[in-house]
Amino acid sequence: MTITPPTIETRRLLLRLMHSRDIDALLHIFADPIVMAAFDAAPFDRQQMAQWLRRNLDHQERYGYGLFAAILKANGLLVGDCGLEIMEVDGTVEAELGYDFRSDYWGHGLATEAAGAVRNYAFQVLHLPRLVSLIRQRNLASQRVAEKVGLRCITQITRFGQLHRVYALTQEEFRQLIIHQT
Ligand SMILES: CC(C)(COP(=O)(O)OP(=O)(O)OC[C@H]1O[C@@H](n2cnc3c(N)ncnc32)[C@H](O)[C@@H]1OP(=O)(O)O)[C@@H](O)C(=O)NCCC(=O)NCCS
Repeated sequence: MTITPPTIETRRLLLRLMHSRDIDALLHIFADPIVMAAFDAAPFDRQQMAQWLRRNLDHQERYGYGLFAAILKANGLLVGDCGLEIMEVDGTVEAELGYDFRSDYWGHGLATEAAGAVRNYAFQVLHLPRLVSLIRQRNLASQRVAEKVGLRCITQITRFGQLHRVYALTQEEFRQLIIHQT
């Protein structure tokens, strides 16, 4: 894997900054009831998608990164998003690792590949002290992705009325992980 921010390249994916013209491709993810079931939410309409995208573009402008567009190199399609969102969690500012993929591309390890690359970017390029991932209790696929890239469940919190598992990985734990993998 090579890291050349703001574009991150993995074996099968390019993770690049989002553009406002990504809206149609993002609707293939967020207007899909199968994807939105993970959030207990209805599929997005175009206006909701535009709001989501605006928020991410604002985040990118403020921090230089956000949720990246995950482009499958084999066909050039935007098949997912994966990246970081700075947010307050129980009074502490945290960097959240997040990912969402088109349901017709699930089960091929793409989210894990993207999340591993964003994890490396967060620790090796941005030098963040810690990553967290807030994942609903029922979302076993997402929990598995977090675990596969080294995060572990440290506690549970209620956020917006829903129970979430808090997965986390510190810079020090990341260093240990890398040492043991090489
Ligand atoms: C979560 C999500 C991004 C995973 O994408 P993906 O590309 O299919 O993920 P991967 O193929 O890299 O890995 C998925 C892992 O979860 C496992 N998994 C999938 N469904 C599962 C389930 N119901 N129970 C347990 N494990 C499950 C897979 O077997 C795989 O693990 P493995 O490699 O050990 O076999 C995708 O399901 C998604 O977009 N969901 C909707 C949005 C979402 O939930 N976003 C995260 C919000 S916290």
